[in-house]
Amino acid sequence: MTDIAILREKILNLKEKKNAIILAHNYQRDEVQDIADHTGDSLELSRIAASIECEVIVFCGVNFMAESASILSPEKTVLLPEIKACCPMADMVTVSGARNLKNYFPGYEYTGGYRYPADFTLRDIKKLHPGVPVVTYVNTTADVKAESDICCTSANSVKIVESLNTGKVICIPDRNLSAWIAKNTETEVISWDGFCHVHDRVTAADVEKARQEHPGALLLAHPECRMEVLEKADHVTSTSGMLRYAASSDAGEFIIGTETGLMYRLGKDNPGKKFYPLRKDMVCPNMKKTSLGSVLHALESETYKIKVPEEIRIPAKKALDRMLEVK
Ligand code: 13P
Ligand code: SF4
Repeated sequence: MTDIAILREKILNLKEKKNAIILAHNYQRDEVQDIADHTGDSLELSRIAASIECEVIVFCGVNFMAESASILSPEKTVLLPEIKACCPMADMVTVSGARNLKNYFPGYEYTGGYRYPADFTLRDIKKLHPGVPVVTYVNTTADVKAESDICCTSANSVKIVESLNTGKVICIPDRNLSAWIAKNTETEVISWDGFCHVHDRVTAADVEKARQEHPGALLLAHPECRMEVLEKADHVTSTSGMLRYAASSDAGEFIIGTETGLMYRLGKDNPGKKFYPLRKDMVCPNMKKTSLGSVLHALESETYKIKVPEEIRIPAKKALDRMLEVK
């Protein structure tokens, strides 16, 4: 048996014994996606975490995703196999206290300048705009969710903002998702200045280059990309939205404007269709930290348990539940 086959067998046996379910985000390594009971985007995985029957959830993703699972299902043991798997964008906003953005962006040259000083917080932006509802992307920490009115994901952001019907919202923390919401609703959007270093590095010049290399291919882009990229896309959607679009489209070739982990499922679900990454370096190092070895270790040692204190969990759950109620 190969090493992978041995690891797989051990994981499957332990999973059964512990009544565990493995959830994996669409950006996870191929072999981790293969061992998962469910793969999906942030919205799908939140819905599954809220409703699935099991004792243990092993969340193969980054920390805010495991936190959301624990917020929604506090009676379950939620395990994050790699404790250092974080989302740098989530750390770009704090409820109080300064941000720490050091060492977060290996290989990424950020030249845009950051609008807010390091000690500017969620509470500060709320004070500047009293009464304006806060719409918080799920890519945030639990305490930020707890001080928000409602959450959203890349799959439902426009619907969520429209459901509020307020004319004005504060959107936290992704400036690119905020710009996408502003473009697609009648709502005035006051945006935080965060970004995903994987998606924000892509430019209109990259789109032109990819289109020249693959004439005729459709461009699917994630709303975490800059507006200059989104404006040139054939379809803008979440990771699972891209899976659905590619499967139902008559087109045979697609340029994929999101993290390259999605290419695996796209290829598997659509034999005969061709997929090209918009940029080969659209790789989230945090999503790649989880391996079959760490999944096995998580199940064996029941680490790392993610638990959110009740005083944060209850208001954070309110913001997540409000999102899940929007159909
Ligand atoms: P999705 O919800 O579209 O899967 O995106 C999550 C994410 O982290 C994107 O970078
Ligand atoms: Fe965060 Fe970007 Fe990685 Fe998604 S791809 S987890 S937004 S850093």
